[in-house]
Amino acid sequence: MTTAQRYPVSGAGLGLRRGLLRDLKDTDTADFDFLEVAPENWIGVGGRFGREFAAYAERFPLLCHGLSLSIGSPGALDVSFLKDVREFLDRFNVRCYSEHLSYCSDDGHLYDLMPIPFTESAVTYVADRVKQVQDILERRIVLEHVSAYVAQSDELSEIEFVNAVVAEADCDLLIDVNNVYVNSVNFNFDAKDYISRLTSERIAYGHIAGHYVEADDLRVDTHGSAITNDVWSLLDHAYAVHGVFPTLLERDFNFPGLAGLKQEVDQVKAAQTRAATAERQAAFLPRDASVYVGPTAGARVANA
Ligand SMILES: [Fe+2]
Repeated sequence: MTTAQRYPVSGAGLGLRRGLLRDLKDTDTADFDFLEVAPENWIGVGGRFGREFAAYAERFPLLCHGLSLSIGSPGALDVSFLKDVREFLDRFNVRCYSEHLSYCSDDGHLYDLMPIPFTESAVTYVADRVKQVQDILERRIVLEHVSAYVAQSDELSEIEFVNAVVAEADCDLLIDVNNVYVNSVNFNFDAKDYISRLTSERIAYGHIAGHYVEADDLRVDTHGSAITNDVWSLLDHAYAVHGVFPTLLERDFNFPGLAGLKQEVDQVKAAQTRAATAERQAAFLPRDASVYVGPTAGARVANA
């Protein structure tokens, strides 16, 4: 399977926020390979905003990243909302629908993404709900592991929980390298090891973003500042382990202007080019030596 077939989009994209609608209007489609939107912000929107959104959906490949599915909630799934999402995905030819591996509601909405306790029973509960969602939407969904600040349970590690949910639900994974970094500081684990233990075949696409340094042992996932070097090097590591996957810049406020956004998206593209080049070169090296011996000796199949 080629990279183009394996992933819903390719290259480097940008989260489309309402605050960017005007700035992005005349941008070259080559600047951003795809856009991502929260369906909750656009379902049922008409008038000028609705027309502007439809124009973006015509120009760019589109992904949806939901906010209110609340897959880990003890409350019932909102079937009516999911039917609206399905219609929206079909209408705008959305390539895939991702959501957070978290919960944000019980009887009412909490307006925050709360971490699910990492337990075996939660794995079964969430996986069952993912299957229900996939049945209603008539497509696979993509789950994103989330950043957190308070440990909920230590029955499983975070990486064990994430891998178990996507395997049991048979859904895909959104790898957010900033979330991994934030949690690795907040919960003192090895970020590279976490990324290495994810399953390459499950990855649909990735996120990268900036965070806030609250203290030496506390990072806050804000999406409101420039990406740090630690997170850039984690992206390099992720590409080296899993192959190059499509990656989206999340920026929610403190917008650095179109040039600033484009500069970070270009940095993602540069990391992808570097990783793809290294992968091609590695295909011509034997597994157990660094000496070049020709294109057939020791060649391996590229991951992506
Ligand atoms: Fe994310």
